[in-house]
Amino acid sequence: MYPLHRPRRLRTTPAMRRLVSETEVRPRQLVLPMFVKEGLAEPAAISSMPGVLQHTRDSLRKAAVEAVQAGVGGIMLFGVPAERDAVGSAGTDPDGVLNVALNDLRAELGDSTVLMSDCCLDEFTDHGHCGVLAADGTVDNDATLQAYGELAVAQARAGAHVVGPSGMMDGQTAFIRNALDAAGFTGTGILAYAVKYASAFYGPFRDAVESQLAGDRKTYQQDPANAREAIREVQLDLAEGADMVMVKPALLYLDVLRAVAEVSDVPVAAYQISGEYAMIEAAAAHGWIDRERSILETLTSIRRAGADIVLTYWAVEAARWLDR
Ligand code: PBG
Repeated sequence: MYPLHRPRRLRTTPAMRRLVSETEVRPRQLVLPMFVKEGLAEPAAISSMPGVLQHTRDSLRKAAVEAVQAGVGGIMLFGVPAERDAVGSAGTDPDGVLNVALNDLRAELGDSTVLMSDCCLDEFTDHGHCGVLAADGTVDNDATLQAYGELAVAQARAGAHVVGPSGMMDGQTAFIRNALDAAGFTGTGILAYAVKYASAFYGPFRDAVESQLAGDRKTYQQDPANAREAIREVQLDLAEGADMVMVKPALLYLDVLRAVAEVSDVPVAAYQISGEYAMIEAAAAHGWIDRERSILETLTSIRRAGADIVLTYWAVEAARWLDR
């Protein structure tokens, strides 16, 4: 008896495999997250994210130009301020590190890329939470919305094409949309972090932004056990006017990403986060996995699961590989 079906026929040669390949990753689909630190003299390494830098104003500009030349689709900018306070004032200050850097990048790059900014308070607060605190120490949802509205307007004014609210406050997309529109920024988009889990894998990011968080974010970020509420979060953000929705982290939540892609009528992004980056870099540094193949396999998998856009710290390097 010969096998009637031989799937291996479609795997015989590189040309055959290329012909039947379903999923493609293109440089334009990749967004590079970048960090800029106030008062820094030289770019600084982040120990838990080998290869990723905290940039100076100047090195950020150069690295962003290189990223755009490599063909990436966008940049997501995070600021590391010199001073933090309870309400995150440095975020709205036009002279604050993130706003100054947005201004620099918009002046340098114009509309040649999509400039996005993290619209959240945790980089700017001394307690490290994504919002302002109520008297009892919990994160005050509605007071935080007010702050997000101001933050979004400051970032739009500084040159962001798209703001990325990542704080998981209820109603944040609608509130930010209103605030932007009222300030005349009707053309500034919102990439809603619609689905964001309370993940252990954000650890290295805390080093990148030097955030000191006591406790956790479980009262606002989602429980990793839950998939159903991800759909609810997406539907709320779509109803509130999100231009794009995001799932975060990526690799551990591919099932959620697939489900979101099925219900979303706007582009879907996925954020391959710091811990995903660190795991692969660490294993590759030991010689336990092939670095390039592993990275490209993760990007392919995230695309296959349904992401139109992937935020990844490997965006520039991957763009170069993909263009070969
Ligand atoms: C919050 C924010 C975080 C990340 C992006 N935006 C940290 C958190 O929610 O704890 C994590 C990104 C990463 O881990 O790469 N402003």
